[in-house]
Amino acid sequence: MVLETKRLLLREMDPDDHQALFPLLGDPETMRHYPYTFDVQRVKDWIEWNMNRYQKDGFGLWAVCLKETGELIGDCGLTLQNINGKTLPEIGYHIRRDCQRKGYAGEAAKAVRDWAFRNTDYPILYSYCKYTNVPSIKTAESIGMQFVCEYPDETNGTTHVSSISRKEWLDEITENTV
Ligand SMILES: CC(C)(COP(=O)(O)OP(=O)(O)OC[C@H]1O[C@@H](n2cnc3c(N)ncnc32)[C@H](O)[C@@H]1OP(=O)(O)O)[C@@H](O)C(=O)NCCC(=O)NCCS
Repeated sequence: MVLETKRLLLREMDPDDHQALFPLLGDPETMRHYPYTFDVQRVKDWIEWNMNRYQKDGFGLWAVCLKETGELIGDCGLTLQNINGKTLPEIGYHIRRDCQRKGYAGEAAKAVRDWAFRNTDYPILYSYCKYTNVPSIKTAESIGMQFVCEYPDETNGTTHVSSISRKEWLDEITENTV
């Protein structure tokens, strides 16, 4: 187990998670802002890629599970991504369709944000997505991120970038504890 929130546990993925992740990453409606939906092999590769990231970077996308039942409902975590030509730390998230709009992505992403600022030296954390992906942009904003830029790229047509700096994060958590 990596992280605990009020309703969720975030833990490292393992190969057996492909059955639980397929209904999420293989759902065309959920993945409508991506260039493709995942087949079973892509889901297995996704898990393997994240397991390699845990080893190499010390973080990756973690499995998001309901604390009450242990059921895997998504993924959320930190990965290094190429954002407009630079390798930057990015908070990403995917939540299964029947579990969306319940605050789970925001809750998980906030825990990842706090973990990243406490356990790495990165001065700024980012989120990026296709410019039309309103749920993703709103999730980034819900953890204090703000608009940085939009740039043209091959995958998304136009990619939207949000970020939060360590100083903005410190200001927010200080405000919330006063
Ligand atoms: C993006 C995603 C993870 C959000 O998951 P979620 O659990 O439904 O999000 P939450 O319930 O925590 O909501 C977070 C914020 O986004 C807003 N939001 C979520 N879905 C929304 C929608 N369809 N339309 C408008 N706002 C939306 C919420 O109102 C909330 O904002 P608030 O805090 O200001 O109220 C989910 O829609 C998803 O899995 N999408 C597909 C994968 C994806 O595109 N991932 C991002 C790219 S890496």
